[in-house]
Amino acid sequence: MGDASTNGRPETVGNPPATGPAVPGLDEAGLLLDVDGAVATVTLNRPERRNAMTFATWRGLAAIGRSLPAEVRVVVVRGAGPSFSAGIDLGMFSGDGGGLPDGSDAEAADRFIAELQEGYTWLRRPGIVTVAAVHGHAIGAGFQLALSCDIRVIADDAAFCMKEPALGLVPDLTGTKPLVEIAGIGRALELCLTARTVPADEAARIGLAETLVPRDGLDGAVRDLVDALLAVDAGAAAATKRLLWQAAGNTLEAQSAAERREQIGRLRALSAS
Ligand code: CAA
Repeated sequence: MGDASTNGRPETVGNPPATGPAVPGLDEAGLLLDVDGAVATVTLNRPERRNAMTFATWRGLAAIGRSLPAEVRVVVVRGAGPSFSAGIDLGMFSGDGGGLPDGSDAEAADRFIAELQEGYTWLRRPGIVTVAAVHGHAIGAGFQLALSCDIRVIADDAAFCMKEPALGLVPDLTGTKPLVEIAGIGRALELCLTARTVPADEAARIGLAETLVPRDGLDGAVRDLVDALLAVDAGAAAATKRLLWQAAGNTLEAQSAAERREQIGRLRALSAS
């Protein structure tokens, strides 16, 4: 990273402190946020723990989502060090449980998990395109974070694992829906219920990645993608993202009507400009 072909953007990984809006608590959350014009880069930054995530990480991600400047159009999510993310910090299962709810108060537990899920759901917002740049392991919560992004670019050392069932839990950070939509119910069941590790070539073959590149080509591939995404009209990009994300749940009739609505909006915007 950090070569001359970054189109003037500062590099983030391994180059703290990052720049961007002041989001309190990102250090403790193990996160870096770098905002450069239309591009925000979120870096999971606990490499010594393979970017294992805590409640603070998920709350930090949600805070980033809330504080993203309006001019940001593309968000890149990546990991520092050898892995994208080793998932939940396993230290949270020991001792006093690190504040994990025991489920005895279902309403409180529901609120607690919903708050953590907010760290992931903003990545689907139509006004931004989100890109997961995955290298090394993406396990559990890390796999789900990659699944929350619109597009995944992965290195040939990437390895995905939905570990939660092996720990007696379910994936609950919004990953089950995209996993089924991408891989199909049979493959999603097989991956989750065996908790096996999916290597990069298989991940690309079954649609878990849009682009697979050699490890040393990841940064360049992400840069090229970001540049291509920024070259498209911002309003058209947001409208098209809205359309595409609702397509699977719509009838052809409803989707055709949605296309008409969005196109009328585009025609108005174009004639006003
Ligand atoms: N939590 C806390 N610490 C972790 C961690 C995790 N999830 N993953 C790695 N670390 C720590 C290791 O303990 C180790 O610490 P020390 O140097 O103090 O020994 C350090 O990070 C480096 O780890 P490794 O030496 O194991 O690094 P590696 O590169 O050889 O292997 C790995 C990387 C394959 C990710 C391996 O560390 C691993 O399997 N980690 C556990 C993954 C896991 O089970 N995650 C939980 C998934 S479930 C989930 O995320 C969702 C949920 O809600 C339950």
